[in-house]
Amino acid sequence: MQVFRHIESLREALKVERQSGQSIGFVPTMGNLHQGHLALVSQAKAHSDVVVASIFVNRLQFGLNEDWDQYPRTFNDDCQKLIDTGCDYLFFPEEKEIYPNGMDGQTRVIVPSMTDMLCGASRPGHFEGVTTVVSKLFNIVQPDIAVFGLKDYQQIAVIRRMVADLCMPVTVMAGDIVRENDGLAMSSRNSFISKGERPFANQLHKTLCWIKQQIEAGSQAYLSLEQQGQEQIVEAGFRVDYLQVCSSDTLTPAARDDTNITILGAMYTQSARLIDNVSLVLEVPIQTTTV
Ligand code: PAF
Repeated sequence: MQVFRHIESLREALKVERQSGQSIGFVPTMGNLHQGHLALVSQAKAHSDVVVASIFVNRLQFGLNEDWDQYPRTFNDDCQKLIDTGCDYLFFPEEKEIYPNGMDGQTRVIVPSMTDMLCGASRPGHFEGVTTVVSKLFNIVQPDIAVFGLKDYQQIAVIRRMVADLCMPVTVMAGDIVRENDGLAMSSRNSFISKGERPFANQLHKTLCWIKQQIEAGSQAYLSLEQQGQEQIVEAGFRVDYLQVCSSDTLTPAARDDTNITILGAMYTQSARLIDNVSLVLEVPIQTTTV
């Protein structure tokens, strides 16, 4: 695997690949790679000739009080994992390579829909930071396909919208959530969970699955399910950020006739904010009778 720190040299190498007819798959990451990321690399490999990964802890998408400086940086381990998974190129830029004029005056890419709810409500500016850096990375790598993890369901929806709105010539693919044995979604932030809390940290997933079961069994009392779900999370000792039954397409609160449903949640442990989601498809809208 070749590692590039500069845009120009990466572009030259990828130009040669493109000229010899190779398609390019891209997996952008912030490092501290786990099985979830490596599955995205494998998925990119299955759909393209060469795979580029990037590692860049993008300060623009972190709030002032968030964990940018504590975000785990594990470059050597990450490199070995990428090599073992068959990644061809790694882009590992310094901040000044991506933001040579600083971040304040940086041209921004703003997706107005879907960015002020759910994660966007508790992390103002987060998605603007994501869409700005992802469009820069797309312009640098010019991939045919790009693969993102489904754990960040809202992120993929926002990126898909950006790609459609700006006519970007890239196919966005989603990689399934990879979970620990007890259901906890793999995340770089799981290393922040304390030992004492770890046995209970799968509560978010348990609650999402419980809500899914209730809906599959015919319940459409979404507000009440959200309320009961929040109580389960609080009883397990965590703080709820949000828990919402949404339309999978628009991410707005699910309506009675929505058949594609995604339940999204975020909760705080003592030192980590964890997100997760589960989706379901209802075959036929549930018929209700009014008496
Ligand atoms: O999902 C992430 O790790 C980041 O948001 C991304 C897409 C690499 C942009 O910095």
